[in-house]
Amino acid sequence: MSRVSLVVCLFAAIGLFAAAQEPKPADPAPLDLTAQQDHKLMMEALKIDSLRPGANGMNPSAPNAANYDESKANPYPNLPDPLILKNGERVASAEIWWKKRRPEIVEDFDREIYGRVPQDVPKVTWEVTSKTEEKVGEFPVVVKKLIGHVDCSRCPQIKVDIQLTLTTPADAKGPVPVMMEFGFGGFGPRPGQTGASAKKATPKPAAKGAGNPFGPPWQPLVLAKGWGYAIIVPVSIQADNGAGLTKGIIGLCNKGQPRKPDDWGALRAWAWGASRALDYFETDPVVDAKQVGIEGLSRYGKAALVTMAYDQRFAIGFIGSSGEGGAKLHRRRFGELVENLTGSGEYHWMAGNFLKYGGPLTPGDLPVDAHELIALCAPRPVFISYGASSGPGAEGQWVDQRGSFMAAVAAGPVYKLLGKKDLGTVIFPEIEAAVIQGELAFRQHKGGHTTGPNWPTFLEFADRYIKIK
Ligand code: GCU
Repeated sequence: MSRVSLVVCLFAAIGLFAAAQEPKPADPAPLDLTAQQDHKLMMEALKIDSLRPGANGMNPSAPNAANYDESKANPYPNLPDPLILKNGERVASAEIWWKKRRPEIVEDFDREIYGRVPQDVPKVTWEVTSKTEEKVGEFPVVVKKLIGHVDCSRCPQIKVDIQLTLTTPADAKGPVPVMMEFGFGGFGPRPGQTGASAKKATPKPAAKGAGNPFGPPWQPLVLAKGWGYAIIVPVSIQADNGAGLTKGIIGLCNKGQPRKPDDWGALRAWAWGASRALDYFETDPVVDAKQVGIEGLSRYGKAALVTMAYDQRFAIGFIGSSGEGGAKLHRRRFGELVENLTGSGEYHWMAGNFLKYGGPLTPGDLPVDAHELIALCAPRPVFISYGASSGPGAEGQWVDQRGSFMAAVAAGPVYKLLGKKDLGTVIFPEIEAAVIQGELAFRQHKGGHTTGPNWPTFLEFADRYIKIK
């Protein structure tokens, strides 16, 4: 080596050494944005100038009043076929479903609808913070309170501590099945709810003489079967508003910066949290983790369906009044619409890419629809629950019971391909008629916006699958 090149090498080495010593540029501070600001940033990222307005569920004479006319409800009558591959070939075997078609559908939901869970979500460490003996009704139980601490070393300003309680029969002889609920944490207005949606979502009091439209408490019914139950608090995983997207588990993964268009939304984050709770159950000898079900109502009914669809360890799903973004077909023009979920009050449930379907694209452009979300649950049993569309104390039609039934019908061929039974009917059932003969089930109870009165029928259905070992 010549002297010149030796000197050059020496300088290069010194340069490299100096670069390695330089402090890395500090991460930008986590952002504090309003939902409107974050929503606008996402529109800019997607190069969208305007979105169509959502349906107005409060004022029937508004120009954008919610449609409740069945003759106008199906502007996009052709659903994507869950059993046709992207290359046009028909899915002729269970093997092709599992190896090719199911992953295609998952990819579409990930990219366009609910968003992707990042590859490197920090670890959760579960801590039992208390264990007490209590009574629920006549049943002696053991109640464990738990916190799932998420490792926040990536961005110490953002703390995520998942709240979970597990209640199991005190006299259990072995591991018990558990029904887990996404808990509202009490009634009353929920964080992030404003305007029309808050009014719609608030449980209505019973009309005089209508009985209790919320039904009896469900926990004793579950305990009477010798099962346990768990309540997970979704807002301890991810806030229920757009302002929270730079915080919570989504914000932690992004170090407090805004989402990319295919990043996960709150529904996927809540479902992720439920999966972490199931990880814990797998380590707790009082739980039979192969027999854990998931239940939720409304936005948490959507989350329960997303949980069931994505995590095949969940044994059964009880999907309460999930409506748009849940079991209802996006392509239906009835009650709540895609355009409601792309507005700044609800977009945080979804991936940013979903905004495109509220303008310039339409719901008819979605590569997948709700029937395929239900199909992702196959062959596991799923019970789709609603309240009554009319009558005293009823839920109303904002949730589009019929559009959800149609989705369950269209999911049927996948259940059949996997050797299971579909709904067994294509005729929309009367209130209180239980369609529970197959692995796909549907029932509207007489009451309001609750799963309450459907619990006994759900448990009758669940009894065929969930057994104390
Ligand atoms: C509103 C919203 C629904 C949602 C519901 C709830 O009604 O439009 O999509 O399911 O709130 O979560 O209570």
